[in-house]
Amino acid sequence: MPTLAEVERDALACTRCPLHQRRTNVVFGVGDPNADLMFVGEGPGQQEDIEGLPFVGRSGQLLDRLMLEEMGLTRAYCYICNVVKCRPPNNRDPLPDEIAACHPYLAAQLDLIDPKVIVTLGNFATKLLLNSTEGITRLRGRAYPRPDGRTLVPTFHPAAALRGGGETVAQMRADMVRAKQLLDGRRPSPLPA
Ligand code: URA
Repeated sequence: MPTLAEVERDALACTRCPLHQRRTNVVFGVGDPNADLMFVGEGPGQQEDIEGLPFVGRSGQLLDRLMLEEMGLTRAYCYICNVVKCRPPNNRDPLPDEIAACHPYLAAQLDLIDPKVIVTLGNFATKLLLNSTEGITRLRGRAYPRPDGRTLVPTFHPAAALRGGGETVAQMRADMVRAKQLLDGRRPSPLPA
């Protein structure tokens, strides 16, 4: 198995899909390479593309706040990455071919970091890692044990919470609590909390 640094080095030179043509930086991921908790978003936005780091814009600020308030954790404790590592132009949705081309990097990150709990942020990460066509609104609200022994907790993308307001944020908070319970080895509470 390659090391995480080797996978990152490959990703930084990646030309597997057309997204490489317009990127400023590959946004591979950041955080503790031995984290028990991993967040997976959709793809870099403008600020992330400029800085080469995931979730550094407004969505990231909300993510940091909810992580701290509901889980008592900071970024240093977890690993954060995205389904696609290069910014889709004008923040459009990543295309199926782009997601497929980038999937080996995410799969390697999961294997190597080996988190206990994965929190998927929004439709793209949730559908990919649950292998489901259902939308996030139906899928969130519970935890999903995976065959690899990890548990997946789907929640909204923070950008959706920024648009959706109080109710969406409250649901994200409940999902974060669920993820923390799993991290602590407790049984996650059912809907709505
Ligand atoms: N949105 C994402 O899905 N990922 C980021 O890194 C930033 C915004």
